[in-house]
Amino acid sequence: MQKLLIANWKLNPLTLPEAIRLGRAEDKKGVVISPPFPFVGAVGKALRYAALGAQDAFWESPPAGGGPYTGEVSPAMLKKLGVRYVILGHSERRRWLGETDKMINRKVRAAMAAGLKVILCVGEPKEVRRRGIGRAMAYVKNQLRADLKGARGSLVIAYEPIWAIGTGKPDNPKETVEIARFIKRFVRPRPRVLYGGSVTSRNTKNFLQYKDIDGALVGGASLKAVEFKKIITITKKLQ
Ligand code: 13P
Repeated sequence: MQKLLIANWKLNPLTLPEAIRLGRAEDKKGVVISPPFPFVGAVGKALRYAALGAQDAFWESPPAGGGPYTGEVSPAMLKKLGVRYVILGHSERRRWLGETDKMINRKVRAAMAAGLKVILCVGEPKEVRRRGIGRAMAYVKNQLRADLKGARGSLVIAYEPIWAIGTGKPDNPKETVEIARFIKRFVRPRPRVLYGGSVTSRNTKNFLQYKDIDGALVGGASLKAVEFKKIITITKKLQ
């Protein structure tokens, strides 16, 4: 199966022209580009080969349009803009916005009902991993159980250990693949599992050489066009 590379731009860049430039540079098959909300529509129009993603969506999705939810964006709105994938449950939203598994579960179900492909992020904090990979698996299992309750639809899991995000200290790929296999055994139907956390062109191969790691969720390195293009080239050679 083709590996999937998700560019999660997070709260970047500042302006629309920069977003369009970056989107065009990363516009390749097998890539999903996830700009911040203000740029989603315009970046989507600029893409020819990559799929469009969003970084979040609300749990209510009134088919006819709206509802009294200040500041929120619905899966149905995103779908109309041409968005195909939505990242949900990212650890930064769990941390800074107080998103709970219950909220994430509602979002997962609403996004799937609207026909979006969900990229669900799970991963343990450092204190848990320090106590061993078994503890990390148990932590991830609890997240998956809660976040996916009653969910039916297109699903990709991104395993992102919190301590590896933005730190320049990625996971040990040998342990990542064990967790990826664990996730594939636990979730039915068997999802694609991606790795995220300090992925760069220097370590892409270490992770993606494994058949059971189906791609990468890339933050910082997706903001540098040259670096991300290297990641794309390395990934293509592996399949
Ligand atoms: P970094 O690649 O910057 O570590 O971010 C990973 C991430 O959180 C992607 O969603």
